[in-house]
Amino acid sequence: MKENRNYDRVWRALHWGMALALIALLAVIEIKGELPKGPLKGALVNIHKQLGIAVFILVWWRLVWRWKHQIPPITPALTRAMDGISHLAHGLLYLAMIVIPALGVLFKQARGDSVDFLGWTLPAIVDDGTAMQYAKTLKSIHETLGNALIWLIAAHVAAVLYHYWVRRDDTLQRMVGRAGNKI
Ligand code: HEM
Ligand code: HEM
Repeated sequence: MKENRNYDRVWRALHWGMALALIALLAVIEIKGELPKGPLKGALVNIHKQLGIAVFILVWWRLVWRWKHQIPPITPALTRAMDGISHLAHGLLYLAMIVIPALGVLFKQARGDSVDFLGWTLPAIVDDGTAMQYAKTLKSIHETLGNALIWLIAAHVAAVLYHYWVRRDDTLQRMVGRAGNKI
């Protein structure tokens, strides 16, 4: 049997679908910041929240997938240091996809607002009224980490371009299903 050199279809769909969702949810919240007061602002915040919760749900599926499947090897192989850095970066991306949306839900609930996902109201984790004092802090951590994620994604894309154009290995091809043999 030939060696599988690509991320499989499910993995690729999760990666590209979630990448799109993350870029869109970051873009809408930045655009919202530039708009004058009006109903469009609320609509953009809502899109931001829906996409954020979708990311939070899908990331668990993706983590199980990653745990159950082999990461396809990069050709030519990475040095130990490069391998370590890429694992660290991917770990931080996963952490961000869990912690940031969770903080988003928490700070809204701490403020006393209910949070809906596709019309369904999420159970309130903090609703005893004492959480209000933490809402501001939770919001600012959510926003700071969210803004830091933009830089992390930029570094991730820069690393991919480095692999593609400078190192000329098959890192990117594996994520589009074009490395070695097609699945
Ligand atoms: C991976 C998921 C998420 C990321 C990366 C993210 C990122 C961000 C960022 C960067 C900002 C601040 C933008 C600025 O500097 O002005 C922000 C604001 C906000 N986020 Fe999120 N977020 C995510 C998920 C969520 C979720 C799940 C909720 C709530 C259910 C949420 C609710 C909000 C709200 C209410 C704001 C403030 C909007 C305003 O200024 O009125 N976010 N988010
Ligand atoms: C247009 C933007 C993006 C491009 C071109 C891109 C490209 C890639 C490529 C080529 C890989 C394979 C790297 C390897 O195996 O070492 C990869 C892996 C990965 N990417 Fe992206 N990516 C993008 C956006 C994102 C975003 C927004 C996130 C999440 C915030 C993300 C999270 C990950 C993670 C966690 C991995 C490790 C493989 C996994 O477990 O799914 N990527 N990306």
